[in-house]
Amino acid sequence: MAVSIKKPDEIKKMRVVGRLTAQVLDMITPYVVPGTTTEELNQRCHDYIVSELNSIPAPLNYRGFPKSICTSVNHVICHGIPGEKRLKQGDIINIDVTLIKDGYHGDASRTFFAGKPSILGERVTRISKECLEKAIELVKPGLFLGDIGSAIQQHAENAGFSVVRKYCGHGIGKEFHEDPQVLHYGNPGTGLELQPGMTFTIEPMINTGKADTRLLGDGWTVITRDHGLSAQWEHTVLVTETGVEILTQSEHADNS
Ligand code: MF3
Ligand code: CO
Ligand code: CO
Repeated sequence: MAVSIKKPDEIKKMRVVGRLTAQVLDMITPYVVPGTTTEELNQRCHDYIVSELNSIPAPLNYRGFPKSICTSVNHVICHGIPGEKRLKQGDIINIDVTLIKDGYHGDASRTFFAGKPSILGERVTRISKECLEKAIELVKPGLFLGDIGSAIQQHAENAGFSVVRKYCGHGIGKEFHEDPQVLHYGNPGTGLELQPGMTFTIEPMINTGKADTRLLGDGWTVITRDHGLSAQWEHTVLVTETGVEILTQSEHADNS
């Protein structure tokens, strides 16, 4: 499928759903503490999305996914299914939220700490956030997707970490996952050239050990094969005439 260029009325809707998506992550932040279960986090997000934001949690029943958010703890890379496991002191947990409002999708995630993280947990979380930030800073018309991938790969590998290759960012709009695929590794000057009106996610998954992944028997949960830690941050962005607009930016300065 071709990469869609959003029209002004579509961009307005993407802005609205992006802002709501960030609000969910802001709302859940104080509840990410040792002792809570990932199902409790799921329930709170679900109720807030449906009742307060009058929106739809896109993951619920998406290709059979059973919950409203993804919760990926420690060596879980992505698509962790909320359940009865309790967070413990020092866990790192990615919460990935996707909303549908007025027919358009917003998709964002952050990695949180339950209590005080290990030095390695703190470091991989910071590096993955910096990978996302460095990539977003580059975005403007004329940039190539390979420039984004290369910047992320360099920053992660300079820190001694690895980039997950099996999963990537994606175009987003009326559909949850649209073209193009946004790889988090690659070579400058290669791949698709960005144009104003494109909307896509950047969502680097960075591992402390090797990049290799393993899919668990539930058909969703993706873990590091070597059981090293993995951290991820995600934003939905819009390519503007002059640069980039982060559609899922928090309105609170201390959040992302
Ligand atoms: N939100 C994830 C992404 O960033 C996709 C989750 S698919 C689900 O693309 F079914 F697990 F929710
Ligand atoms: Co995404
Ligand atoms: Co996501």
